[in-house]
Amino acid sequence: MTILVTGAAGFIGSHFCEALLARGEQVVGIDNLNDYYDPALKQARLEKLAKYDRFRFSQVDLADHEALEASITASELQAIVHLAAQAGVRYSIENPRAYGRSNLTGHLNVLELARSAKNLKHLVYASSSSVYGDRSSVPFSENDIVRRPASLYAATKIGGEMLSESYTQLYNIPMTGIRFFTVYGAWGRPDMAYWIFTDKILRGEPIKLFAPDEMYRDFTYIDDIVAGLISILHSPPDESENDGHLHQIYNLGNSTPTALMDLVNAVEKACGREAETIILPKQLGDVSTTYANIDKARAAFDYDPKTKIEDGIPVFVDWFRDFYKI
Ligand SMILES: NC(=O)c1ccc[n+]([C@@H]2O[C@H](COP(=O)([O-])OP(=O)(O)OC[C@H]3O[C@@H](n4cnc5c(N)ncnc54)[C@H](O)[C@@H]3O)[C@@H](O)[C@H]2O)c1
Repeated sequence: MTILVTGAAGFIGSHFCEALLARGEQVVGIDNLNDYYDPALKQARLEKLAKYDRFRFSQVDLADHEALEASITASELQAIVHLAAQAGVRYSIENPRAYGRSNLTGHLNVLELARSAKNLKHLVYASSSSVYGDRSSVPFSENDIVRRPASLYAATKIGGEMLSESYTQLYNIPMTGIRFFTVYGAWGRPDMAYWIFTDKILRGEPIKLFAPDEMYRDFTYIDDIVAGLISILHSPPDESENDGHLHQIYNLGNSTPTALMDLVNAVEKACGREAETIILPKQLGDVSTTYANIDKARAAFDYDPKTKIEDGIPVFVDWFRDFYKI
């Protein structure tokens, strides 16, 4: 099977490509290698993938549909896994247009590519827990109505789901949207709290905690996410099930919300040092809690996340120390 993975140099994308390659698949990776965070980290992730001769990579911006179409032979694709996006809630206040480009125009261009890919069996794309907004009714279920995004990032992810729905209805393309919940692990994302805390604690610098008493996140370990993604990829929505609906949405979370202070404690323990903390108010665009109901993925794919943060954070910290020689 030939699979296009967008965002192949990203955190989740690079892990997912590696898992596909290890299973013997042909993988075409694309990424624009933008500098939202250190492109050297993206290059280092690609170097891991380059050792497989079944991996091809093109540096392309998804928002440039001509470049995208020129770099891909649509007819060779059996599946597309669209993970590229402008991620991050806080950066959407600083640079809103990056979200319009990558998450709306880029998503539309991937849908157009899927429309022209005549042998395509499945398009899987990344959505986000942020679509649920700042709500107190937990856990978050795929049946919840999502129309109160607390950030522009969340709004563009709801937009991506809506664009996808229209393409399934218009062109019968089997699609699955995945709402990821705070994914973490080795080769992770430098803008995320677990990374920033590790970096600062190891350097002996204070960490900023925004409204720590009200913050809970459903931290989900990368290996559990990759296992879920592999199962989902191989089970496209079928017309004989789900009332014939070819577009499905699944939560992939851990279903265990963790208090921010418990994350800090796990990082401190793994680093072998105590953190100096600065307590600040909640930030614009942040939601208090994320908590996934994962019954739907469990029933459909036996999705079964097993990793607790006490086990996953030390793996990340060991990788970080080794990668940065700290
Ligand atoms: N990591 C999480 O906790 C999390 C949670 C919810 C949703 N998601 C979603 O999962 C997906 C993967 O996230 P990640 O954590 O791996 O993020 P990431 O930033 O590490 O990876 C995204 C990749 O997409 C690339 N990219 C961005 N815009 C592009 C464009 N216009 N053209 C081509 N490439 C582009 C980036 O260079 C990057 O390498 C994203 O869609 C993200 O919104 C992630």
